[in-house]
Amino acid sequence: MSGSVRCLIAGNWKMNGLLAESLEFVRQLADNPAPEHVEMALMPPYTLLYSLSAPLADKGVRLGAQSVFYEHGGAFTGSISPEMLRDTGCHYVILGHSERRDIIGEGSELILKKLNASWESGLEPILCIGEHLDEREAGRTNEVLKDQLSVLASVPGDRALTVAYEPVWAIGTGKTATTEQITETHAFVHAELKRLGHDCRVLYGGSVNPANARDILACDGVNGALVGGASLKADSYMALVEAAASVNK
Ligand code: 13P
Repeated sequence: MSGSVRCLIAGNWKMNGLLAESLEFVRQLADNPAPEHVEMALMPPYTLLYSLSAPLADKGVRLGAQSVFYEHGGAFTGSISPEMLRDTGCHYVILGHSERRDIIGEGSELILKKLNASWESGLEPILCIGEHLDEREAGRTNEVLKDQLSVLASVPGDRALTVAYEPVWAIGTGKTATTEQITETHAFVHAELKRLGHDCRVLYGGSVNPANARDILACDGVNGALVGGASLKADSYMALVEAAASVNK
């Protein structure tokens, strides 16, 4: 990362959001509320991408998707290509989220195909990594993260990339990692990325909310947050942006 790094507040709506309430969410956002050092992005479900694209752009919020298929077109019933995401105005795509690894069974081989297809189409992937509780308790966190990051070993270091460290036990549980755990793990992730020839932002995710966001975002090595539940309401999302705005490092 050369120069100053913008703090990214990315909202992953997961399988939430219908059209009317989502347009109301955007209407409630302030106009361009983020200072220069904060970037806003939202990842609604596929069904809302096109409808929210222009309204979000008007508010200074970047658009992202929650997944993508690795082929560029053809007979792949039910799949969405990277070009289709670009066509709706997406800049980001989330890949490797633990819900897709654990529920859908996505593994490293598939994630690498999706990474490459995303880059070929000009999308910036947000690659999610994170350990389960039993892995942390067994002292295996770094080993798990290293394995998940190894998909980047063959990838040129100049690719647009953001990584999100999301301990699986902190997702949707109200249980955040301590600031010590976050600082220590982010240092490891940055070092591992460097060893693999990459230098990019590392977001934290897992039960981030307006009450804890400032402390988390102030941790060394934290370059933003990937937020689920607390990004679903406009006032809560705006409070996260305000927390990021108050951190200057
Ligand atoms: P929560 O913020 O709801 O814990 O979800 C985190 C997450 O999985 C974001 O991708």
